[in-house]
Amino acid sequence: MASASIDNNASDGQLRIMVLNGPNLNLLGSREPEIYGAQTLADIETAVADLASTLDVTVDFRQSNTEGELVSWIQEAGADCQGLIINGAAYTHTSIAIYDALLAFELPAIEVHLSNIFKRESFRHHSYVSAAVDGVICGLGAKGYLLALESLVHLIRAE
Ligand code: DQA
Repeated sequence: MASASIDNNASDGQLRIMVLNGPNLNLLGSREPEIYGAQTLADIETAVADLASTLDVTVDFRQSNTEGELVSWIQEAGADCQGLIINGAAYTHTSIAIYDALLAFELPAIEVHLSNIFKRESFRHHSYVSAAVDGVICGLGAKGYLLALESLVHLIRAE
């Protein structure tokens, strides 16, 4: 659990942000490009890293197809980072474990989805993640990650 006694600053004083990506997002580029776009996850990571350097923050960008690994990484972010961006992919709609991990996270967090989940099947309309984060960006494609990073850094610096 995140604790006020933990110093989440990187040793060089830079803000550290974790960006987590859930199942099947490793397939971006070839996976339903009409919904998720042509950019690969590596392309998105590069764009996020470029923006991070202009904002003078460090980003730790990860993807997993496993729910438990995502939970462990949220816990790790609570100890080591100052903010979190999460695209939980399908676990968004199913995972109480990720919801609980986010409640324990206690630091600024933003949810991202490439597609507009509210325009799609009804099972995608409910997000466990949304109830545990500060903001949600969806339907703007890969640009959503950049908007999330900018907003998250603003939130952290305003605190
Ligand atoms: C997604 C939307 C989810 O409903 C879906 O399961 C995904 C990707 C998005 O980024 O649009 O895998 O999170």
